[in-house]
Amino acid sequence: MLMTRRFYLDTVGCQMNVLDSELVAAMLVGAGYVRVDRPDRADLVLFNTCSVRQHAEDKIYSALGRLKAWKQQWPGRVLGVLGCMAQKDRERIFERAPHVDLVVGPGQLGLLPLLLDGLAVGGPPQIEVSLDRASGDRHAVRSSHARHVPVRDIQAASRAVPYQAMVRVMFGCDKFCSYCIVPSVRGPEQSRPADEIVDEVRRLADAGCVEVTLLGQTVNSYCDRSGLAPVRLADLLGRVHEIDGIRRLKFVTNHPRHMTDELLQAMHELPKVSPYLHVPAQSGSNAVLERMKRGYTVEAYREMLARIRQFVPGAAVTSDFIVGFCGETEAEFQETVELVRHARFKNSFIFKYSARPGTRAAELFSDDVPESVKRRRNNELLAVQDAISLEDNQPYLGRTVEVLVEGPSKAAKKRRRNRADDAARPHPNPLPPGEGTFFGPDALWAGLQDAVQLVGRTTCDRIVVFDGPERWTGRILPVAVEKIDAFTLFGKPVAP
Ligand code: 5AD
Ligand code: SF4
Repeated sequence: MLMTRRFYLDTVGCQMNVLDSELVAAMLVGAGYVRVDRPDRADLVLFNTCSVRQHAEDKIYSALGRLKAWKQQWPGRVLGVLGCMAQKDRERIFERAPHVDLVVGPGQLGLLPLLLDGLAVGGPPQIEVSLDRASGDRHAVRSSHARHVPVRDIQAASRAVPYQAMVRVMFGCDKFCSYCIVPSVRGPEQSRPADEIVDEVRRLADAGCVEVTLLGQTVNSYCDRSGLAPVRLADLLGRVHEIDGIRRLKFVTNHPRHMTDELLQAMHELPKVSPYLHVPAQSGSNAVLERMKRGYTVEAYREMLARIRQFVPGAAVTSDFIVGFCGETEAEFQETVELVRHARFKNSFIFKYSARPGTRAAELFSDDVPESVKRRRNNELLAVQDAISLEDNQPYLGRTVEVLVEGPSKAAKKRRRNRADDAARPHPNPLPPGEGTFFGPDALWAGLQDAVQLVGRTTCDRIVVFDGPERWTGRILPVAVEKIDAFTLFGKPVAP
């Protein structure tokens, strides 16, 4: 077929999914597809899905329903479901949405071009998922080869945002927290060989990448045992730190049980490592943590916080919480509020418990906290956290922070979409990324003539909004903070 094939790819869920989508997009572009930003302009529509909460799944099923007419307009169109919901629901997706052509689990995304080729020559709907972890349930995946072909090793040059990249250091999770579906859809914990990761980061750096975020479901349990001596996250950070061109290093998500002194010491010693740690607590009540099977007490979590503050003074710590978990009493919830008050997280992501069939919690406990109570607890905890976030941003007023420019803000992009001529013109980016720290006042003024609203981040992951030309994207510049709210610092770029 000579026709240009256009794809639309929508992503929900965690950073692991964002990375998978980035790699899938790069793979499709490599196979000759062109990305479009609306499903009605595409011949191939893909949803990279999340199963962590029911709500995310419901949204995908209704989006699939809305695409029935689109699919029927031309039989050559392809509709695919990728990621965690594909792995979890498998054939049930075809039952609920018979017009779907492709169901591909997170461990099989590397097979996508092959599967699409099969469909292009009139093949039947395709399903590729992993075998069931516990039972090796082959019947459930009749049509699957159950191969593990994750997307990996995509050439750095084909990545969408070369100055900032996520690099997967491990697959899966072995923790089996009682509420969580991730271990059964993403499979067992497997660390990638350190050499492979270092090579990938080196390629990214050669292509202009300045910031790398190492990704793992429990990233601080990383351990490559393929060589003579085990390589842990602290060692890996040391090796990646040596790569020229990389200026910032982050890693997410951490598990409290693996926050070793060795890792904190490495953060302290390695200046490129951002003083930022996302370490979900999930609850401040020992009874709830026990039911969640988190494997630590609130006292151990507080002790860990104290060690973080001792080794990495000023570190920004962020957390996740689940409110309304099975049997959560008001007193237990108040213990979580207490932890948030004590911990002074930079911010917290707060979720209402959503029972996931197939998890231990769904089997063992009843989802007995009413929705209205979950909502109220969510709002109450959010209000406590937001007040702390606002207080913690206050000292930034009048300070100059070093910002990695990520590009136009959402508002600026929306304004640009409304101006067709501007959208059609690619912005030149004459200086290599990361070279932006040395602006004289004249250059600064000249640059600001075509200013848009830009957004960037400090090393401690604070969002900074300021005006500047889009070509500053990917540079690290000083910005003087003039205004703050709980979530954002607003400022003006300054000459150093
Ligand atoms: N219900 C609500 N939130 C959940 N999370 C994981 N599983 C569930 C669930 N069943 C939250 C946890 C985790 C984050 C990514 O999602 O807080 O850290
Ligand atoms: Fe889920 Fe727990 Fe693994 Fe995180 S550590 S992915 S919450 S099972």
